[in-house]
This record gives sequence, structure tokens and C-alpha cells, in this order.
Amino acid sequence: MADTVPTGVLRTVGRTPLVELTRIDPTSHFRLFAKLEAHNPGGSIKDRSALELLSEGIRSGRLIPGRSVVVESSSGNLGIGLAQVCGYFGIRLICVVDPRANRQNIAIMRALGAEVEVVTRTDPVTGEYLPVRIRRVREILAGTEHAYWPDQYSNPLNPRSHHATMREIREALPGGPDYLFCATSSCGTLRGCAEYAREQQLPVTIVAVDAEGSVIFGRRPAPRLIPGHGAAVRPALHQDGLADEVVHVSDLDCVVNCRRLAHREAILAGGSSGAVLAAVRRMGDRIPPGATCAVILPDRGERYLDTIYDDGWVESHFGDVTHLWRENGPMAEVTPC
Ligand SMILES: Cc1ncc(COP(=O)(O)O)c(C=O)c1O
Repeated sequence: MADTVPTGVLRTVGRTPLVELTRIDPTSHFRLFAKLEAHNPGGSIKDRSALELLSEGIRSGRLIPGRSVVVESSSGNLGIGLAQVCGYFGIRLICVVDPRANRQNIAIMRALGAEVEVVTRTDPVTGEYLPVRIRRVREILAGTEHAYWPDQYSNPLNPRSHHATMREIREALPGGPDYLFCATSSCGTLRGCAEYAREQQLPVTIVAVDAEGSVIFGRRPAPRLIPGHGAAVRPALHQDGLADEVVHVSDLDCVVNCRRLAHREAILAGGSSGAVLAAVRRMGDRIPPGATCAVILPDRGERYLDTIYDDGWVESHFGDVTHLWRENGPMAEVTPC
């Protein structure tokens, strides 16, 4: 966090553990390390962004407890991070979400004192919720005194918070990693890690992992089931050349790889964690023997117990696929940048 020393629970944001995954693929010819962002106090990597996005305003006096109102659009994890920081400082937060946000995330935000507004209609042109959420944020800003929009999709403080994410990975893996796999939505993580890697001249291949149906890397939009990674509108933080490779992952890939991670490594992680692991599997035969790979696992699995980890939900969307996480499973699609 820039220029301010966090106190209380906010001191526990970041410095998450990096663990080696040796069981998920015991025959692997490369080493695989996972950065467990679930260990942040709000349960996700977005705690880092939330802290950075607000601490600048608090330090500069722009955000004043009891007077300022923070307004943001979030599918859940950033909202929880913001609710934590706002709750700690006594700042009012209005978070605009859509029906794809899971119930637990909304309940956690409310428990931390945030006001949560759920938009119910999709945009008539794109069929997506995000444009409607952003329009609603603008309406609230226009009608609210002392309102502040952190705007995670364009604010450079979002990627800046992830310079530390990459620095921590580098410090934990002397000489490495050779590959970094990173899920994308606002592109804060990708851009922050890429900026740090380039500044430090780290010889790392950065692989962006996006959802099938997301438009971030120029594909056509399509319906997606799993929240977290992917975006319906290309974020302003996106820049060409941030990633060396892009891998697009289906909802089924996410489920299979989350369930495999839980079964083999006893790590219960969210949907985008399954996505990055699917990307590693897809890239596997191009990764040189002895290489060191790092994946960022963005959030906790507890908030996906009704979906990814619910057999009935999985069967209703994909049929009987339990054999896939006991065997090799489907492969994600890779596009060189
Ligand atoms: C679970 C999860 N994974 C991945 C991401 C993507 O991170 P970023 O917004 O930094 O691109 C997010 C963002 O909200 C997320 O919540």
C-alpha cells in the first residue's frame, strides 16, 4: 500500500503463502507453485486492490469517515475487500452487483456494513449485466454528495497493488518463476504482475487466463456461468502485450480443475483457480522440463459450495462428469499473443 501503513485487520492483506503442488500431476516434468490468495482476510486477491484503491483517498483526505460514500460495481470479491476497508475506517459503501454474484458474497458484504444493490436486468444491446451495473453506479454518483468511485476497471492503483503480488512470488522462488499463470477480469492482477516483471527485467512468460465468452482479448461475448474471471466489456486497464500467451477456459474446465485440486491437493479454491490450473494443463507439453511455474489462485472455494462443489449443480449443467476430475479432463484452448 502506498505511503500509509495499514493497521488492524488490514495489516494481514498480502504476504500470502506460496505452496508447491506435487499431487495434482505427480508425473509432471515441471514444478508448480500456487499463490494462495484465499489467505487474505476477505478471502481473495481483491483485498489487495481494495486496500490500494482506498488508502490513497484516505491518506490524502479525499475520503472522510462519516462523510464520504464509496460506490463501486463488483461481482463479489472486490466488494468484500472494499467492505472490509470501508468498515474498518467507518466509510459508507454502496456496492452494485448482479444476480451472478453468489449469495454468500452479498451476505458477507452486508455483514461488514456495506449496502448492496442488485441490478436485475441485462443490457438490451449486449445482453450483459456489467453495462447496467456501471450505469447504476453513475446514477448513484450523480445523486450522492461526497461520493467516490474507485473504478477498478480503469484505476492504475488496482494494478499497482499487484506489484507486491509479483514481488512476493519472485522472493519466494529465487531465480524464478519461468511461467506465471494469472486469471483476468479487470486486468489488475495481470497488468500489475507484468509491470513489475518488466521493471525488474524478470525472464518470466506471463500467461493470461480468460473465460470462454469473455471479450477481454477480442473474442465475441457468450454466456458464462462462473463469476470472477472474464469480462463482458474490455477493461480500460487492458493493454496489448501484457501477456505472452492467452488461454481461454470453459466453465467445465474450471469445475473439473477445482474438483481435482480439492481431491488431490486438499485445497478448496474458487472457479478462476480451476481456470488457471486448466491453462497449466493445456500448456504443459510446451513447458520445458525442470521449469518453475507459478499460478495465482485468486479466492476461496467456500463461496462456490452451491455451484462448483455441488454435485447436483454440476450434473444439471454438464451431466455426469465426475470421471473427468478422476481422470485427465478436457483441455482449454490456447492462443499465442
Ligand atoms: C475469483 C477471481 N478471479 C480472478 C479475478 C481477476 O482479477 P483481476 O480483476 O485482477 O483481473 C477476479 C476479479 O475480481 C476474481 O474475483
